[in-house]
Amino acid sequence: MNKDLLSFAGMKPEDFEDIWLRAARLKKMLKEGKEHASLKGKTLGMIFDKSSTRTRISFEVGMYHLGGIALFLNSRDTQIGRGETLADSARMMSRYLNGIMIRTFAQESVDVLASYASIPVINGLTDLLHPCQILADLFTIREKKGTYEGIRVAYIGDGNNIANSWIEAAEHLPFELTLACPEGYDPDKRIMEQGRKCGKGSVRLYRDPHEAAKNADVLYTDVWTSMGQEAELQERKRIFRDYQINAGLLEVAKKDAIVMHCLPAHRGEEITADVIDGPQSVVIDEAENRLHVQKAVLEILI
Ligand code: CP
Ligand code: NVA
Repeated sequence: MNKDLLSFAGMKPEDFEDIWLRAARLKKMLKEGKEHASLKGKTLGMIFDKSSTRTRISFEVGMYHLGGIALFLNSRDTQIGRGETLADSARMMSRYLNGIMIRTFAQESVDVLASYASIPVINGLTDLLHPCQILADLFTIREKKGTYEGIRVAYIGDGNNIANSWIEAAEHLPFELTLACPEGYDPDKRIMEQGRKCGKGSVRLYRDPHEAAKNADVLYTDVWTSMGQEAELQERKRIFRDYQINAGLLEVAKKDAIVMHCLPAHRGEEITADVIDGPQSVVIDEAENRLHVQKAVLEILI
């Protein structure tokens, strides 16, 4: 495992498996009420440049369960918000903390922070990637389907951070990924090329959501408008109109397909209420698994 979790670059299939085995053990211990304070006295700084519900709560609660503490650092209230460099912040914070989780805009900021920090840095979402989410998603698929190997995941919607991390995962692990994105909203070009060329699993991009969803084991979507793109909201609502997970799309997937969404969701936009609240949806289990998987990541890195 690398020092940091910035993306899936450099990760081996064993690293993923190690995280998931630990996550399963930690989940079981929590459910059984067994003490698992492996990070007693350790501290995690959590820098947020964007809003969060799940990421903040799961990291904060996770550190508490493991016997450590997490500090919520809204970057506007720190000197980072007043121009203190990431390099100085990283070097100085490395003297106080045992790890940093950061949610921000540019992936470069996370990479810079990690390059100057002597402690592990975890990417809690950037405009480009959201690795923690996809680690929890694949863990959920393993739980629900028994394996991710050979599973067909269909991602419908914006070629955003979630889509990019799915492609990065398919580069390392043998599952099938089909995406349907409207023209002009494709995933990152470099990540897509890399995923297609070097992927352990296959990665295919369609324009037609039905093509992508055909025989899928997992139907996955995310918001049409990500954080930071609010000015494009109305235009995106028009462009993405047909990129919705609804009962019709569910029909072309496998009968026992599960429906996933990283949340927050907008019912009536990227997914209909009957589907996200229906029997095939696993979104709440998926959100819960953020906690268990991140605790495993914290244990391994810290
Ligand atoms: N899925 C996810 O990262 O949720 P939050 O934005 O609430 O953290
Ligand atoms: N693509 C979304 C994910 C939120 C968890 C965003 O970046 O806002």
